Amino acid sequence: MSSRKDHWENIYHTKDHTEVSWYQESPQISLELFSKINALPSQSVIDVGCGASLLVDNLITHGYRDITLIDLSDKALSLIKSRLGDNADIPDYLSEDITSIKFNQSFDIWHDRAVFHFLTDASDRESYMTTLDKNLAVNGRAIIGAFSLNGPEKCSGLEIVQYDADKMKSVLAHDLELVDTITDTHVMPNGSTQEFMYFIIKHKAV
Ligand SMILES: C[S@@+](CC[C@H](N)C(=O)[O-])C[C@H]1O[C@@H](n2cnc3c(N)ncnc32)[C@H](O)[C@@H]1O
Repeated sequence: MSSRKDHWENIYHTKDHTEVSWYQESPQISLELFSKINALPSQSVIDVGCGASLLVDNLITHGYRDITLIDLSDKALSLIKSRLGDNADIPDYLSEDITSIKFNQSFDIWHDRAVFHFLTDASDRESYMTTLDKNLAVNGRAIIGAFSLNGPEKCSGLEIVQYDADKMKSVLAHDLELVDTITDTHVMPNGSTQEFMYFIIKHKAV
């Protein structure tokens, strides 16, 4: 069986990234959620499993400068780097697995669209949540987008876990709290749709 990294590397090497099911011409819902949490360009942002997403381009346009991108696929990161041109030096690029990385900084905004839902092993979900708990700034917010209970059961040929509010609450690290859920319909490049649920998460007030 190929590794997780091999799977994703192969996807970005063999498919046009503008034709994959998760492609968005504009990361509209994520930008709306950044507004909803009152995000500021002075804040630090991590895009977990960024793929080749245009979120970073939009954040740079809005004045964000402290941006970390992490993805298993070097190819996906290189697509972003070459697209950004003169702005390529702004983000930090980490070719790593979110379930095993140790960060030495915290993030004000943690963004994950369609990545956490691939973690089908409880131990991977726990590692992810432990890292989120440790590295989300005290007053930070996480935005996690996953397929809803009405969404697909697979993505990119891989099993996923569907989430609603109760399910997300059941996997949150105990210091984290779900503050909001937003349902969104993603229109895929082929015109059909997928239902996502986005979760806004913060540390519990101490
Ligand atoms: C469905 S794509 C979503 C990409 C991007 N977030 C977007 O909205 O366009 C999932 C991405 O997560 C990355 N990924 C999957 N598992 C990961 C992991 N454990 N750690 C880091 N990245 C991962 C994949 O390489 C892929 O780019």
